[in-house]
Amino acid sequence: MSVGTNYQSGFANEFATEAVPGVLPEGQNSPQRAAHGLYAEQLSGTAFTAPRHSNRRSWLYRIRPAAMHQPFEAMAPGRFHNRFDEVPASPNQLRWDPLPLPTAPTDFVDGIVTMAGNGGAAEQSGIGIHVYAANRSMQGRFFYDADGELLIVPQQGCLRLATEFGVIELEPLEIAVIPRGVRFRVELLDDVARGYIAENFGALLRLPDLGPIGSNGLANPRDFLTPVAAYEDVEGDFELVAKFQGNLWRAGIDHSPLDVVGWHGNYAPYKYDLRRFNTIGSISYDHPDPSIFLVLHSPSDTAGVSNMDFVIFPPRWLVAQHTFRPPWFHRNIASEFMGLVTGAYDAKAEGFVPGGASLHNCMSGHGPDAATYEKASTRDLSQPDVITGTMAFMFEARRVLHPTRQALESKELQGNYHECWQGIRKHFAGNKEPVGL
Ligand SMILES: [Fe+2]
Repeated sequence: MSVGTNYQSGFANEFATEAVPGVLPEGQNSPQRAAHGLYAEQLSGTAFTAPRHSNRRSWLYRIRPAAMHQPFEAMAPGRFHNRFDEVPASPNQLRWDPLPLPTAPTDFVDGIVTMAGNGGAAEQSGIGIHVYAANRSMQGRFFYDADGELLIVPQQGCLRLATEFGVIELEPLEIAVIPRGVRFRVELLDDVARGYIAENFGALLRLPDLGPIGSNGLANPRDFLTPVAAYEDVEGDFELVAKFQGNLWRAGIDHSPLDVVGWHGNYAPYKYDLRRFNTIGSISYDHPDPSIFLVLHSPSDTAGVSNMDFVIFPPRWLVAQHTFRPPWFHRNIASEFMGLVTGAYDAKAEGFVPGGASLHNCMSGHGPDAATYEKASTRDLSQPDVITGTMAFMFEARRVLHPTRQALESKELQGNYHECWQGIRKHFAGNKEPVGL
């Protein structure tokens, strides 16, 4: 068995890594017999014929092939699913308090609760949005998601993601992406863990083009870290859980599937430290659109329109002159699910807390609450503002995000969220001087 958390730098590079020297074949992928008695297996994340710049696959050299397990059986429906048609999506602004931490033993997979989503695995388009809360490591079980890649955003507690490709250690303010199909086990490095997950059914997440920003900025490719090969040579009475077409399935497996001794390719898990994001903004007046904060996106078949975006609101300076500095009032064609890792979000005075979430769907009006508007609209702009100690983020989708029944019926749903805008005062008085300014 090999252990370790060493990483290789770069986004979707052609990595090559071996935990035992000499297990990677030279000059070919599938020799008649792989070195050290291993089995060669390809894992494709894109169509074989995808253009070279977007073609993603890896070759794995493993102790046993992935096909070796008992038949899958359907698991009872739980809180982790893709049923986005249970209840009508409403145009109401929605906000939730944090999911409570579990008291009964709950691992990462059992602790996933689906909040909203659209599309699905069958369409290979859309997004599932989940939160998780766990208090123990996955024990004797492994998981893979055949429906989409998983973008994990920890909010509380450090995680150790033991994957077929190696080990990722993850802490709040970092994110990790586990590609579709990759088997892994989540261990807790703290007593409890809580966070958010975007399940991307569409095209693989990628770094955005930078346009006039130039060749540097936003998330830089060298800051993405992919684990080096690490394997387990362990036999026992284990369980392999698969998410397949929206449902969970389980199969017996008599060995750890994390038995890849070496691999090469560009389809692999990675992590990224959000504190490394090079935040760009206005140094004259007005706001750029929040796409300026784009970390990763899943393109759709329509140019310029993402299946999903992952956007962050990190610490930054606000210097714009004769400008309302917090995010403005707006309505968008896109639908926005927001979470907060730490600190406060600059468009809300209270009610949006770390671990909580909000959902503003297509064309639903939202923006700063009354308290934030009053403060920011009268602020002395001769001095810059600095926002520190915060990390909010947004899963943005081109299609409406349908809340699940369990999200709408949860006691964490705030019944009074709309009230944060009710105190906004009318100042307009026709041709007369505005009132109350
Ligand atoms: Fe918004």
